[in-house]
Amino acid sequence: MRPHCFLALLTLLTLLAAVPATRKVSAPWKEIKDLKDPYVIGIAEWGVSEYNKNVTGTNKLVFQSVTWGVSAFISGTFYELVIAAKNQSLTIPLEEYKLGVWDQFLTRRFMYLIKDDGKFV
Ligand SMILES: *[C@@H]1O[C@H](CO)[C@@H](O)[C@H](O)[C@H]1NC(C)=O
Ligand SMILES: *[C@@H]1O[C@H](CO)[C@@H](O)[C@H](O)[C@H]1NC(C)=O
Repeated sequence: MRPHCFLALLTLLTLLAAVPATRKVSAPWKEIKDLKDPYVIGIAEWGVSEYNKNVTGTNKLVFQSVTWGVSAFISGTFYELVIAAKNQSLTIPLEEYKLGVWDQFLTRRFMYLIKDDGKFV
């Protein structure tokens, strides 16, 4: 392939990768704008540590970052976060997981943590 073709292809792929799948956000969900918000990071870290409590051996996840997220007010705040995390028992790089946490006034509930499927809720 000629170099400029390759560059064009690379640019296109980069652009495609930057578009977050087909996640359409509609009410009551709101997209989280600041993915580095310490509160949001705290929710993600908490969710991963809850998840890890039930995992035996080296299959634990190591949280890296929040890559996408939505929240909604449902008697408290429900967060669905897409996180990049490393599975300690695998040699493959970071993968994306979808984490659901229900953050209420006095309690925080772990809802789910699954491999990201590109959809939301
Ligand atoms: C851990 O396992 C218990 C018992 O099966 C379950 O009730 C709980 O929801 C699990 N927690 C997580 C974070 O998966
Ligand atoms: C991590 O990898 C192990 C081994 O393949 C697997 O059993 C486990 O379910 C994985 N953990 C997650 C969160 O996908």
